[in-house]
Amino acid sequence: MSDRFNTIAGWTLFSGIIALGFSSLSGHYFRADKHNRPEQMGFAIEGVAEEGEGGKAATPIEALLATADVAKGEASFKKCAACHTANQGGANGIGPNLYGVLGEAVAAGRGGFAFSDALKAKGGKWDWATLNEWLTNPKAFANGTKMSFAGLSDAQERANVMVYLNSLGSNLPLPAVPAAAAAPAGGEAEAAAVVGDAAKGEQSAKKCAACHTFNPGGANGIGPNLAGIAGEAVASGRGGFAFSDALKAKGGKWDDATLDAWLKNPKAFAAGTKMTFAGISDAQERANVIAYLKTVK
Ligand code: HEC
Ligand code: HEC
Repeated sequence: MSDRFNTIAGWTLFSGIIALGFSSLSGHYFRADKHNRPEQMGFAIEGVAEEGEGGKAATPIEALLATADVAKGEASFKKCAACHTANQGGANGIGPNLYGVLGEAVAAGRGGFAFSDALKAKGGKWDWATLNEWLTNPKAFANGTKMSFAGLSDAQERANVMVYLNSLGSNLPLPAVPAAAAAPAGGEAEAAAVVGDAAKGEQSAKKCAACHTFNPGGANGIGPNLAGIAGEAVASGRGGFAFSDALKAKGGKWDDATLDAWLKNPKAFAAGTKMTFAGISDAQERANVIAYLKTVK
């Protein structure tokens, strides 16, 4: 009796596995679940920019900075290290020490480094735009510069290096991303207006629960209690939680835009923050968590 039952159960299980195998196989063959675009479009039309290249070149540096990676920037800085130190009080070499250079005047100070006349003639400050231009092509920025470095042609790499430099004594706020660029390239319009689902957000917020409580009057832990955070001032109140200087320096309020930027990449939002959380890369998931945060007050 029980033998027979086992046999039947066994066959049922077996056919189930086979069916599963087939559906996954056919999924692979027909890609029924994805509407993939071919990576290369069928034929090139003369004079028409291809989406990939055109799109990449058109991504503004502000958008790349928003997702830039300090650690990758530090790795890329090895290309600069033959001539530059970046630590506080580091020596000048072939090039000047770069600690705190973002936000400072071009070709000034730096322990009396002997800048070229070409760079001195530029004037102005090193901000996100000027530094980006400089690192793209130093000679085009200041014809006659003595920085004999070809430049970094990859915009994402420049963005990474810039957020790394910014983390060393500058801590400037990241520039705002132009509205057009905030929508992902490739015309995925549906992603432009993501509507958050608070219930799903509550699920996702389990990722935060190791460090945060959400209930009104909940205790501070590794991170501050987050009840009523939407609409409040950044890094203030919260029962006297000891915020990092980096986050305190940001100022402003937690609204949809700042929360989204923060949750996407805390370190890019406030280089030097003590929230050791990689961020949520999925825009829909961020929107869900933000919707949930609005319900906890
Ligand atoms: C081969 C040596 C060399 C390399 C490599 C190099 N630099 Fe330079 N850098 C210089 C020199 C020399 C100057 C001064 C330029 C001048 O006076 O015209 C300079 C100037 C600068 C300045 C301006 C500093 C100021 O106070 O105005 C910045 C910023 C800078 N470099 C960043 C970088 C970064 C970032 C990299 C790597 C991606 C890099 N450099 C790679 C030699 C180098
Ligand atoms: C590993 C611990 C940790 C995790 C996980 C974590 N946080 Fe944080 N969070 C912190 C710390 C620490 C701070 C204070 C940051 C500072 O002062 O730089 C913070 C600060 C914040 C702030 C700013 C509060 C204020 O008053 O300005 C918000 C908002 C926030 N976290 C949301 C979240 C959300 C949402 C998640 C989950 C998706 C999350 N955090 C995951 C540790 C964490």
